[in-house]
Amino acid sequence: MVKKPTITIVGSGYVGLTTAAILANVGYKVFALDTDSKKIEIIKNGKAHFFESGLDQFVKKGIDSGNLIPTLSYKEAIPESDVVFSCVGTPDKNDGSSNLEYIFASAREAAKNAKNGMIYVQKSTVPVGTGREVIKKMCRANPKLEFSYVSNPEFLAEGSALFDSLNMDRVVIGSDDRAAANKVEKVFQDIIDFSKKLDHKKYADYARFYCDKAASKKAVPETAILLTALESAELVKVSSNAFLALKISFANNIAKLADAVGSDISEVMDGVGGDHRIDRSFFYAGLGWGGGCFPKDVSGLIAIAEKKGVDMPIMTAAVDVNTGMVEYVADKIKRSLKSRKRAVIAVLGLSFKPGTSDIRRSQSVKLANLLANRGHWVQAYDPKANGEAKPALDKSVQVFDSTYSAVAGAHCVVLATEWKDFITADWKKIKKLMKGKVVVDARNKLDEDELKKIGFTYEGVGR
Ligand code: UGA
Repeated sequence: MVKKPTITIVGSGYVGLTTAAILANVGYKVFALDTDSKKIEIIKNGKAHFFESGLDQFVKKGIDSGNLIPTLSYKEAIPESDVVFSCVGTPDKNDGSSNLEYIFASAREAAKNAKNGMIYVQKSTVPVGTGREVIKKMCRANPKLEFSYVSNPEFLAEGSALFDSLNMDRVVIGSDDRAAANKVEKVFQDIIDFSKKLDHKKYADYARFYCDKAASKKAVPETAILLTALESAELVKVSSNAFLALKISFANNIAKLADAVGSDISEVMDGVGGDHRIDRSFFYAGLGWGGGCFPKDVSGLIAIAEKKGVDMPIMTAAVDVNTGMVEYVADKIKRSLKSRKRAVIAVLGLSFKPGTSDIRRSQSVKLANLLANRGHWVQAYDPKANGEAKPALDKSVQVFDSTYSAVAGAHCVVLATEWKDFITADWKKIKKLMKGKVVVDARNKLDEDELKKIGFTYEGVGR
């Protein structure tokens, strides 16, 4: 039997730790390398340092088997590694572009410690062309090293990281070096085979999620493995995110028209998305897209196109529609409140999407701030993101620690982020606690008929 390559994963965040834990469960010896000693300590104790459904069980199994080795040291991990995955963060710079400092620093460090023949795999999302720059920097850091470079973009979403990694639609492997690409392909083939044999339902948290997703997707996908040129793989990643963002903006644009002509956007998109060439996903209209990926990847794509002298009117339009959605919803609230200039408005949800405490570029935070700037008294609550949101909120926004305390005395309640807690809340109780009766459902997720029965006036986006 051929010996499995030893792997190091640099960066133990959402992407890195999920990948490391899975590979350890598949049977690889995996070093999970991170510079943050607190994170490494938590992983050593068999846990993830963030919440991700089912991941703790995978980490624990990896640690117990001895296959998963958390470490702070490049010197310990890299010299014996055949394949090194880079999964470090690319935080936003003030101008919206990605800070590639960690990408370059970890590549240099890996080059200095590597053995000849190492395959360096870039999983972090980077602008097109970054791969070539990384290769140059690695050559400079260790001119004698023979290594191969592969771009392998990650498609998992926060909140479903483990599910997405075990049920991949496709794997994209981009490199000049076909032999290296084939070795990486083998690693992914092992994950696919492992996932096929895995009893997914055994993983308590994950199982619930798996069943939901598997049901909604009808079947778990057959994974396609695509071997491409290096720059193609880099462009696949940002273009995929740009297209998904575009789908949402398209749905939101049509939603405005639906409002104007009296159709229901959910019905419209059921019809449009029912065409398998188009697909229903990412057609949910509402406040629009946010987070650490879409805004940065879309603006990054526009920036690189500008640099190359290529026009991107489709993407700039998508950004404009998205930016406008916050004001569009705020104007809806204004109309619903009739003449009231200053109202008490409860904003439910602050994270950029449900299932995460991440508030980066959250449309819900923007809405809360805009309402406050228009002179309203804003009472906000999020089940997981209160702490992260506070520094990003206007000082006048009051943050509460439950749905019911946030809605007390409100003239209007806005569903800004569609957490399940809000959808299944006791809306009769909410009505009693409120001063007014306006509900603005900025994610189209509440039961309109039920709310009207209780006595609310209901306003959605495009319905
Ligand atoms: C996104 C992509 O979905 C992943 O495939 C990709 O790997 C990841 O970026 C990344 O680049 O790392 P993520 O940002 O975690 O994942 O979140 P999504 O679930 O895609 O949601 C993004 C935003 O779009 C959220 O604000 C969400 O509320 C909004 N959205 C999504 C809509 O407004 N309507 C929809 O129909 C879908």
